[in-house]
Amino acid sequence: MKINLKDEILRLKKDKQAIILAHYYQRGEVQDIADAVGDSYYLSKVAKECDEKVIVFCGVKFMAESAKILSPEKTVLLPVMDAGCPMAEMADAEGVQVLKDKHPNAKVVCYINSTAEVKALADVCCTSSNAVKIIKNIKEDEIIFLPDKNLGEYIKQQIPEKNVIIWDGFCITHKLVKPEELVKARKLHEGIAIAAHPECEKSVRENADFLGSTGQIIDYVTNHSGNKFLIVTEEGVLHQIRLKNPDKKLYVPGGGMTCTNMKKTYLEDVYNSLLHMEYSIELDEDIRQKAYNSLAMMHELGR
Ligand code: 13P
Ligand code: SF4
Repeated sequence: MKINLKDEILRLKKDKQAIILAHYYQRGEVQDIADAVGDSYYLSKVAKECDEKVIVFCGVKFMAESAKILSPEKTVLLPVMDAGCPMAEMADAEGVQVLKDKHPNAKVVCYINSTAEVKALADVCCTSSNAVKIIKNIKEDEIIFLPDKNLGEYIKQQIPEKNVIIWDGFCITHKLVKPEELVKARKLHEGIAIAAHPECEKSVRENADFLGSTGQIIDYVTNHSGNKFLIVTEEGVLHQIRLKNPDKKLYVPGGGMTCTNMKKTYLEDVYNSLLHMEYSIELDEDIRQKAYNSLAMMHELGR
């Protein structure tokens, strides 16, 4: 007998008293069964504040890890064990420690796209939605920013008075976009507005009308009076943009932008995750406590 996955997920969710969180880059069908869909900042806030004792985090590992760091008493499940973020893996604890030793007076600001070990070495975390605000709120002028070089450069442009030392990481999905694709879209579609994620390279950022997190891009399109948009970030965001703006025309650069890790999670994985309570995030308690301080500081400074 074929089971109805959606019904079974809802039944298991009730049984296990779980909440399902999904990032905007997840498949549409996964976003549709989630209790909360959002950008990485919003989801970390929901994970921290929700009453449920079980969180099924449909996203990539650093997101589920952040939920566990903030709420160690909760069971945090990542439906697909190897759904990782290659950018997060580009900064390693040893390398970060070397940089810290070289710049002992610098404050370390760590993008949430990072491992728990790296977060444990940071003073504060940030996401793309609050990075500029957080760094403005730090009184020290010397900042180490990691792991995303592009978000780091963007921050440096916004706050030129700070000395920002930038790690050399990047997102493989956003790196593939070329500025010519934005120029071409403007030629082909008169009046098009271009919204891009700050993880894009400088030449792309310079050609965009708006830069922001996934959530901010969705709000930008929703509140904009125009009706043509080029969306320069992972195409999962199109799902919510379409739901909110059924009459607006949406375009994507070149052959589209896909994060293969974000697309590893299917409804079946969410079902199996709830059924078998897998894959539970477990962290070393010393690392977790240190990483907690930098995430808690983000929530404090980002308020
Ligand atoms: P947001 O913080 O904008 O949701 O982005 C997360 C991410 O992984 C971007 O590639
Ligand atoms: Fe990581 Fe890029 Fe995928 Fe975001 S889109 S999760 S930064 S690989």
